[in-house]
Amino acid sequence: MNIKAIISEMTLEEKLAQMSQFNANCLDTTASGEVTGPASELNLTASEVKATGSVLNFTGALEMIRIQEKFLENYSIPLLFMQDVIHGYRTIYPIPLGMAASFDTDLVKRCSTMAAKEASASGVHVTFTPMVDIVRDARWGRCMESAGEDTYLGCVMARAQVEGFQGDFKKPYNIPACVKHFAAYGAAVAGRDYNAVEIGEQPLFEYYMPPYKAAVDAGVEMVMTSFNTTNGIPSSANKWLVDEILRKEWGFDKLIISDYNAIGEMQMHGYSSGEKQSAMEALSAGTDIEMMSSTFLKSIPALIDEGKITMEQVDRAVERILRLKEKLGLFKNPYKNADAKKAERLYLSKPHKALCKEAAEKAAVLLKNDGVLPLNKDKKPSLLIAGPYADMGMIGFWSCCGREDEAKGVYTVFRKALGARKVAFAKGADGALNAEPDKAMILEAKRRARNKDAVILCLGEASGMSGEGNSRANIEPSEAQLELLKAVKSVNDKVIVVIYSGRPLALTKVEKYASAIIEMWQPGTMGAEALSSLVFGEANFEGRLPQSFPRHVGQCPIYYNRMNTGRPKLDDGDFTKMYISQYLDVENTPLYPFGYGLSYTSFSVSPITLSKSALCENEGDFITASVTVKNTGKVRGVANIQLYIRDLVASVVRPVKELKAFKKLSLMPGEEKTVDFKIEKDMLAFYNRELKRVCEKGDFMLFIGQDSDTANSAKFSLV
Ligand code: GLC
Repeated sequence: MNIKAIISEMTLEEKLAQMSQFNANCLDTTASGEVTGPASELNLTASEVKATGSVLNFTGALEMIRIQEKFLENYSIPLLFMQDVIHGYRTIYPIPLGMAASFDTDLVKRCSTMAAKEASASGVHVTFTPMVDIVRDARWGRCMESAGEDTYLGCVMARAQVEGFQGDFKKPYNIPACVKHFAAYGAAVAGRDYNAVEIGEQPLFEYYMPPYKAAVDAGVEMVMTSFNTTNGIPSSANKWLVDEILRKEWGFDKLIISDYNAIGEMQMHGYSSGEKQSAMEALSAGTDIEMMSSTFLKSIPALIDEGKITMEQVDRAVERILRLKEKLGLFKNPYKNADAKKAERLYLSKPHKALCKEAAEKAAVLLKNDGVLPLNKDKKPSLLIAGPYADMGMIGFWSCCGREDEAKGVYTVFRKALGARKVAFAKGADGALNAEPDKAMILEAKRRARNKDAVILCLGEASGMSGEGNSRANIEPSEAQLELLKAVKSVNDKVIVVIYSGRPLALTKVEKYASAIIEMWQPGTMGAEALSSLVFGEANFEGRLPQSFPRHVGQCPIYYNRMNTGRPKLDDGDFTKMYISQYLDVENTPLYPFGYGLSYTSFSVSPITLSKSALCENEGDFITASVTVKNTGKVRGVANIQLYIRDLVASVVRPVKELKAFKKLSLMPGEEKTVDFKIEKDMLAFYNRELKRVCEKGDFMLFIGQDSDTANSAKFSLV
């Protein structure tokens, strides 16, 4: 197909239409042709909005086919249909923060492919996934969509999602992925969404940029620029980020799309004096498609007349768009894989639900267990299932076309498992954000908790309490939930707290009363069934925290790969010392650290043996670091062995630990295996003051253990 020939035939208006993207419902004009819905807020004319090159946010194959058919009556270049398929299309698996907790890239790939099958049959051509923004501040609502605080984990999860969605582009269900939000959107000041990002270039490149690069290196088809400014410049206009780094240094010559009205918002940022300047800045920086604003449509003709934008710049953007449409075969078949009947067969199908259950089991993290778990199902324990989220599905924010009512509640599932006579219910508290204790509800829960073998208390956050725009200044469960917990504990000693959340919550007060704490994240369509398998020991926990859980929100941002400082606090519990890096009122450490998670069994990790203690700088050399891991408990379990490295002295101060690899291994009781890690020079590289990626000779510590608190270490040198 001769794309350049097509472009040479197009008018400027047709080209600019290709460079615009609107919600599907913008295309619905009334019979008289006037523009309705959000388009009218964008003061678009019917012809402007109808000519658009791509749409987002539509409801499925039937709508996609209807829109495409109608569109092709008047236009020859088919529409691209894009959607946020973040953790499932209709059959929903755990939020990405939970998927990261699985530390299982194969699982993430399989779930992404499952989502792609449902999405492509539903008419989706491109998914706005993976979101790879590193986040160190639990106040930010979009922790739920991320892989958490660690750069290495962020990179492996980015790659797994790109591969899972895109595959080899040979299967009809492979769909292009779009990595977002470029760049450093998760570093918003004070964890407040859309807020400015003020960051040094060294930490920007060291901690925040690698996951975007990992997605680009994995062949991602699109990049989305973020809402935030980075050191005063909005990302969609940031020529240094988008053109110098992404396009020139990383060689990304495919499509770049702005976030939703992000170009329009340049004025609000105070970066642009009006639509013309916004359009010029964005196109010049390298943004090809303007999502849900119309500065390209309205201002580029004048900018070309004034010689501020060239037709070559426009043609280059249009060429990238048409190349993706050609790659998807849309010129031959504008409907691609859309098939409503096939989609319906896939939604909530047995294999898809089974995979979502497996994912929810592997994402869950056991934070505390005084021995109350697992419950013995054969003994038919009497239970109270209580709490504001005890009888509802919990599928999380960004759950696409998923339906909360298609996910069963914990009460429903446990009643089925044990029989109605054995399982009581009490809501006990309202689930709203700042709900106040309700005496009557609490009394009722207390009454029903008496003489039960155990209580399962479902607390935390509802799906809408995290996600886009949903930052929180207080990250504790509400007063209503905490009072309910205390009340139930006062009459029943066995209280298993299940936390649903889209972020780390401050669980210090929960920890005091709970016999066990299970972090379920927002587990999706099969969350309650997964919880049942875990509580009864039919499945064992293997999730580990992808983000530190603070003791108190005042510690945010808090993360394991911190700097030592010149005055480190050596004894976390000692508050007698002065003039050291500490708080007067809270420890420095998190309540639960990155990489942490319990199992129903226990594991021992031997001291580290090194094949040698000096790593030569020349290529190909490596050290093998080995440990022996043993299952010292009574049931099969999956250990997660993590390798961290610390550069003891460098020209830019390095963190006290950095994750460089992890290995999961299943062990039967008493079984032991040797785990080897290959230590290579590239693991030691970092960005120096000149932003060059370098390795510096000297001494290093390596740590191998079960979470980022491990002290199991060995010393080696780079010579
Ligand atoms: C939203 C989000 C972005 C999403 C886009 C389209 O505002 O920031 O992640 O892909 O709009 O829905």
